[in-house]
Amino acid sequence: MDKINVQPAEGKLGILCVGLGAVTSTFMVGTLMARKGLAQPIGSLSQLAKIRVGRGESKQYKKINEIVPLASLNDIVFGAWDIFEDNAYESAMHAEVLKEKDINPVKDELVNIKPMKAVFDHNFVKRLNGTNIKEGKSRWDLMEQVREDIRRFKEENNCNRIVVIWAASTEIYVPMAEEHMSVEALEKAMKEDMKEVVPPSICYAYAAILEGCPFIMGAPNLCVDIPAMWELSKQHNVPIAGKDFKTGQTMMKTVLAPALKTRMLGLSGWFSTNILGNRDGEVLDDPDNFKTKEVSKLSVIETILDDEEYPELYKDIYHKVRINYYPPRNDDKEGWDNLDIFGWMGYHMQIKVDFLCKDSILAAPLLLDLVLFSDLAKRAGMSGIQTWLSFYLKSPMHDFEHKPIHDLSEQFAMLKNQIRLLGGYEADQEID
Ligand SMILES: NC(=O)c1ccc[n+]([C@@H]2O[C@H](COP(=O)([O-])OP(=O)(O)OC[C@H]3O[C@@H](n4cnc5c(N)ncnc54)[C@H](O)[C@@H]3O)[C@@H](O)[C@H]2O)c1
Repeated sequence: MDKINVQPAEGKLGILCVGLGAVTSTFMVGTLMARKGLAQPIGSLSQLAKIRVGRGESKQYKKINEIVPLASLNDIVFGAWDIFEDNAYESAMHAEVLKEKDINPVKDELVNIKPMKAVFDHNFVKRLNGTNIKEGKSRWDLMEQVREDIRRFKEENNCNRIVVIWAASTEIYVPMAEEHMSVEALEKAMKEDMKEVVPPSICYAYAAILEGCPFIMGAPNLCVDIPAMWELSKQHNVPIAGKDFKTGQTMMKTVLAPALKTRMLGLSGWFSTNILGNRDGEVLDDPDNFKTKEVSKLSVIETILDDEEYPELYKDIYHKVRINYYPPRNDDKEGWDNLDIFGWMGYHMQIKVDFLCKDSILAAPLLLDLVLFSDLAKRAGMSGIQTWLSFYLKSPMHDFEHKPIHDLSEQFAMLKNQIRLLGGYEADQEID
C-alpha cells in the first residue's frame, strides 16, 4: 500500500478564532495551561487517545501523534476576531467558566490576544451590540479585509500555517439559495452586496479558503455547507469541516439512538429541553437564531433510526428540541431528555437523561482536535468536506450524493481509519 505523503508539522501554527467568547477563551486558556504542564487536556483525543494500528500479532496501540505528525501545542499562536474589544483574559473572566486561579498563570499571554475588528451584521444576531466592527463597501470588500487580517497575522507572528475556526454566535437561519450553488454565483452576490444571502460567516470562510487556510464551522450556520464553498475549497486545496460542535445533549443522542436500534427497541417520542444562561443562550433565545440550532439538532435521530427500513419501530417519532435562556445557570447547561420507547409486544417504557454539563468545558477539546486534524489534513493534501471529522459535529457536512453519519461509534471508526491511512497503516473497520 502506498503511504500518503504527509508534510511534517514544521514551524508555528496560527489558530484564528472567529468569536472570542466563552468557548474560545476556555479553549485558549486550557491549551496554554496544558502546554505549561499546568492542566490536563481532558476530552482531547489528539492529546490523550491511543489507537490500534496493525492487526493480529503486529497490532500496537499508539498515541495519535506517534502515528501522524501533529502540530505541537508549543507551536500554537492564537488570534481572534470579535465585535467586543475584550482581550482573551477579559473574555475568560467575563465568561466565568474557569476559576481565576486557573486563568492567571497564563494571563500575560491572554492579555496579548486582542480581537481584530469583526465582520458583523446586526440583522443576523439581533441580541448583540458591539463596536469592534469593520466597515466596508460590500460583503466582498469585507471578505478582502479578513484576508488582509489573516496575512498580517501570519507575517507578524511568523506562522507557517493558519487554521480558521468559527466559535462565534449562531446566525439566524438562512435557507440555501441560488446564490449558494456555485462559486461564480456566490462571488457575484458578495460583490453586489446581497446581504440577506451572504451572512458575515461566509466572508470569513471565503477569506480563509482563498488564503489556503482550513476552515471549521462550529456553529450551525449554513456558511461552508453550500455547493459554492465545497467547490471553492476543492479549487484551493483546502479542507473544510462543520457544522456545530457535538458536545452534550446531541453527543448522548448519538450514543443512545444506536443502542435502541441495535436492540431493535422502538421509539415513539424524544423530548429534549435545555436551560442555559450564557451569551450563547441569550442569542439562541431569539427564535430566528434558535431555528438554525433546531434544524441542526433535529436531524440526528431520524438519520440513525431508519424509519423506511424499520417502520414498525421508528415511524412517526415525535421529536422536539427546546433551548431556554435561564441566566442563573450561566455556562452550566442542563439538558433533559425524555425518551418514550417500546419493547416486546409493544409495551411502553421511558428513559430519562439529565446531563448537568458545562458547555464550554465540553467544547474546548473539540476545538483543539478539529484544528489539529484540519491542519494535518491540509498537510496531507486533502481538500473539501472532511467527513472523517464528523465525530465532532452535530450536523456533519456532506454533499448531495452522500448521507451524514451520526452514530458516534461509526464516526469514531471513520476518524481512526483516516488516521491509520495517513500513518501508512491499513484502514480496517467497515462503516455500516
Ligand atoms: N459550547 C458548546 O457546547 C457549543 C456546542 C455547539 C456549538 N456551539 C456554538 O459555539 C458558538 C460559541 O459559543 P459561546 O458559548 O462561546 O458563545 P459566546 O456568546 O460566549 O461567544 C460568541 C462570541 O462571538 C462573537 N461574535 C458574534 N458574531 C460575530 C462575528 N460575526 N464575528 C466575530 N465575532 C462574533 C460574540 O461577540 C461573542 O463574544 C455558538 O455559536 C454556539 O452555538 C457551542
